[in-house]
Amino acid sequence: MKIDKGEIIHQQFVKMCKKIIFYLLFHAYFTVLKGIEMVNMKIVEEPSSYGMNNFNNQQTQQEDNQLKMRVPPSKFSGPQHLTRLVNKCFSKQIDSYTYKLCPFSNVSQHEDSYRWNPYNGILGVWQEWEIHNNTFVAMVMREGDNCGNLFRSMKVFLRCGNKNEIVNVSEPSTCQYHMNFNTPYACHPHAMLVFPTLSEELRNEWELIEGRLVNEEITIQGYKKRLHALFEKAGYYLSGTAKDKLSKEAVKKEEKKEKEENGEFDTLYQCTQEYQKIKQQLDALKMVLKDPMVDSKTKDSVNKMEENDKQNKNSKGSSKRKKFISKLTNLMSKKDNTHGES
Ligand SMILES: *[C@@H]1O[C@H](CO)[C@@H](O)[C@H](O)[C@H]1NC(C)=O
Ligand SMILES: *[C@@H]1O[C@H](CO)[C@@H](O)[C@H](O)[C@H]1NC(C)=O
Ligand SMILES: *[C@@H]1O[C@H](CO)[C@@H](O)[C@H](O)[C@H]1NC(C)=O
Repeated sequence: MKIDKGEIIHQQFVKMCKKIIFYLLFHAYFTVLKGIEMVNMKIVEEPSSYGMNNFNNQQTQQEDNQLKMRVPPSKFSGPQHLTRLVNKCFSKQIDSYTYKLCPFSNVSQHEDSYRWNPYNGILGVWQEWEIHNNTFVAMVMREGDNCGNLFRSMKVFLRCGNKNEIVNVSEPSTCQYHMNFNTPYACHPHAMLVFPTLSEELRNEWELIEGRLVNEEITIQGYKKRLHALFEKAGYYLSGTAKDKLSKEAVKKEEKKEKEENGEFDTLYQCTQEYQKIKQQLDALKMVLKDPMVDSKTKDSVNKMEENDKQNKNSKGSSKRKKFISKLTNLMSKKDNTHGES
């Protein structure tokens, strides 16, 4: 067997890097613990009127921060006057869920429940229009959170109403949702027509296609196909390849993330990146807590951990992890017991 010296050094690097991350995670853990203590105290101090009214908004806000779109949304497209809906969000509580629609961006669902794990998820990310009969009918949002072996999707039908509001939501088939959204921007008889929004070139092209259908030079299928291509050109439809690319990239990213969460790094570069990320998070935590020092008890524990870690240097990774977890559990209960002292 040939042993490459460079390879050995590389492996040692990766090992070291993992160790640093391990330590940082540990450090972050206590910073978080300290944070939780402070937050707990704050909640106890809330007046007794703290209740359902602000519960929804606060909860939705908090959980929104944890959600992440699986794919980037498409650019704005469609009637220009709808740009007024960009960067705006609308919520509505229906039964025990709050729906939040951010047109041309994302739509999400938040379960209004004190359950320890209420459902919060993205139902879709803005992709393209649904067009029928020369009319923009619905915003199609896809690539939401996964749901068995498919991803959630939502069609948002725009209807005329005297204010912007979510009217209702239904789920015609599993994890595929429909939403009716009222907006004054859909009220003018021409507000949602496609033809006037097109460039002159595309209008001419469309007229040619219409002419060929009338003259029976093309079939209705051929007409539909050409119109579809025209809407792709206009940016109202995503091409099949663009859709494929989006979803494949998202899946690839998720697989990679899963691998990293399991502590597998392909390269030293990835390891370093991970280290930077954790370090940034830790720094941010410290900033939030406005207390850069971990109390002396915790520091002692960390030092002890490091000591133990050194002694365990030769043991296998998995048993090390087990020991780490049991130590953490111990430390946590110790910390809980001494909670009242300080
Ligand atoms: C959804 O879109 C809004 C508006 O663009 C944005 O502020 C928000 O961060 C998005 N939500 C997620 C989970 O990315
Ligand atoms: C198509 O839209 C036009 C006006 O936008 C309307 O008058 C016509 O009835 C619609 N046709 C169908 C088949 O829906
Ligand atoms: C949603 O509201 C629309 C308009 O008010 C109504 O026509 C439709 O039946 C409603 N759908 C559901 C599922 O409630």
